[in-house]
Amino acid sequence: MVYEKDKLDFKILDFSNYKLIKDLQQDIYTRNWNEDEIGHLLKKGGGHGLIFYLSKKPIGYCFFRNLADEAEILSLEIESKYRNKGFGLLLFKKVELYFADNKICKCFLEVNENNNLAINFYKKIGFVYIKNIKNYYKINNSYQDGLLLQKTYI
Ligand SMILES: CC(C)(COP(=O)(O)OP(=O)(O)OC[C@H]1O[C@@H](n2cnc3c(N)ncnc32)[C@H](O)[C@@H]1OP(=O)(O)O)[C@@H](O)C(=O)NCCC(=O)NCCS
Repeated sequence: MVYEKDKLDFKILDFSNYKLIKDLQQDIYTRNWNEDEIGHLLKKGGGHGLIFYLSKKPIGYCFFRNLADEAEILSLEIESKYRNKGFGLLLFKKVELYFADNKICKCFLEVNENNNLAINFYKKIGFVYIKNIKNYYKINNSYQDGLLLQKTYI
């Protein structure tokens, strides 16, 4: 399905909309940030983000932390029925505009080693593998490794 550009919108994550993230965090591989954590990061911890709207409906978000000239993606999700249509790429391009404006030279993230979909996504947008992080995730009472991925901009 082709979506018209004027139906797509991005809003900066702030105290007027951050509670929306709670409903958008659905995937087994998504790190669930609760309202207090998001609020704290927005207020004091360098937290930033974007919410992605399709026809005024929030369908995805990216939440990241900005530390000096580096950024860490904390959580990123597109609602499942809207996946694999290029929306993740569009969202991340917007995030990278913020990085450019704020002179971010390196972005890193952790992704579950079994989350092939997201690993493919991040590789497609230029992230490279740095190292394994042993037992980084706990899913259904079992521990799984994380992969540290990184993209440099300068
Ligand atoms: C990762 C995620 C944000 C990608 O968003 P998306 O809108 O589905 O991605 P796009 O449609 O923009 O796809 C971009 C690229 O990602 C990869 N990709 C997307 N869906 C894929 C699939 N089902 N299988 C394999 N690769 C896939 C492809 O490389 C694709 O490029 P291509 O279409 O040219 O092959 C989305 O799948 C998601 O929300 N996943 C669950 C939450 C999650 O795992 N977040 C990351 C945690 S660190």
